[in-house]
Amino acid sequence: MALQACGLAFGLLHRRATPVMKSMASDDVSIIRGVEEKVKLGGSEVKVTKLGTGAWSWGDTTYWNEFQWDDRKLKAAKAAFNASIDSGINFIDTAEVYGSWITGGAVNSETLIGSFIKERQKAGPVDVSVATKFAALPWRLGRRSVVSALKNSLARLELSSVDLYQLHWPGIWGNEGYIDGLGDAVEMGLVKAVGVSNYSERRLRDAYTRLKARRIPLASNQVNYSLIYRIPEENGVKAACDDLGVTLIAYCPIAQGALTGKYTPENPPTGPRGRIYTPEFLTKLKPLLDRIKDIGQNYGKTSTQVVLNWLICQENVVPIPGAKNAEQAAEFAGALGWKLKDWEIEELRKVASSKEPVVGFPVEKL
Ligand SMILES: NC(=O)c1ccc[n+]([C@@H]2O[C@H](COP(=O)([O-])OP(=O)(O)OC[C@H]3O[C@@H](n4cnc5c(N)ncnc54)[C@H](OP(=O)(O)O)[C@@H]3O)[C@@H](O)[C@H]2O)c1
Repeated sequence: MALQACGLAFGLLHRRATPVMKSMASDDVSIIRGVEEKVKLGGSEVKVTKLGTGAWSWGDTTYWNEFQWDDRKLKAAKAAFNASIDSGINFIDTAEVYGSWITGGAVNSETLIGSFIKERQKAGPVDVSVATKFAALPWRLGRRSVVSALKNSLARLELSSVDLYQLHWPGIWGNEGYIDGLGDAVEMGLVKAVGVSNYSERRLRDAYTRLKARRIPLASNQVNYSLIYRIPEENGVKAACDDLGVTLIAYCPIAQGALTGKYTPENPPTGPRGRIYTPEFLTKLKPLLDRIKDIGQNYGKTSTQVVLNWLICQENVVPIPGAKNAEQAAEFAGALGWKLKDWEIEELRKVASSKEPVVGFPVEKL
């Protein structure tokens, strides 16, 4: 995951789509209702669906995709994008480093998204909100580096602006310049809202104050948050987001597949995830996975939909699960339009509390 994911990947380093509904069965109606409930990103004017789709795996060969990218995976990623838009989830999260040569990827995720949007536009206007991120690489200094990287992202995305531009992680130095660069990007009309990612409470408050002096709201902080990674509840980040009116965007919300119930001690994930979600870890996770499944059955919902709903129920949280194919993307929409009961939310937290969280992205503590 974060380290998992991010450590390996980096370490080595407006509007609503018209849902294309084939039928209006009762479940479809609830999906439409859920999707229509859009939320503002912090104090910005940008409104997004209560859930987005993460595009890290699109084009990535450092952590995902068994280190290989081929035409079949490309088609599956494109189908995930289309299924997401079709089900009304039009908030897509990417980053300049996803799939980039910097991290040893095959095709930049931004380039893929740009081509998916272009392709879809052939059939009519496409309503999509794109969020991307600036990589705070040590050799990037000053506010101009932010605007310059954003322009390169926009070129890959073939867009004139994005809805949200985020600092992917705090830099080793130069962070005030990066925040100033975010403000410049807003004033230049290159982005509608700005946010940070992997920011501690102190960094979050500093960034908020610095932007506020220019009357620019800090819209979001994107951090690792799931039922089994509740560090934002413990390190003050969730409370600070609520206090400041900053949206918490939750990454790895389904623990990279571990919370979906499809991985078991007998069938653990392969590749880098296999080192985190080991058979031992999955054995300890079983009581929680069983309870998630039981609760889901009462609602006619899958485990994936239950754990995403749990996050949405925390309020001021927009999860961005990653989808590799159309089926996964379509399933996410079923997390909207209903709500777990308060006692179920607390029971799941309690059952989850008996486990140690996995190791997070170390930059959270910078
Ligand atoms: N800011 C940061 O530092 C940071 C860090 C990490 C991620 N992110 C963002 O957050 C997004 C989500 O995080 P993530 O992709 O790492 O983890 P995630 O959303 O918790 O898990 C995504 C993975 O779960 C599996 N999956 C998805 N839907 C499923 C379903 N319905 N049923 C069963 N399995 C399913 C897929 O992998 P398999 O099919 O291979 O199992 C998929 O790649 C990323 O795409 C990225 O945009 C940001």
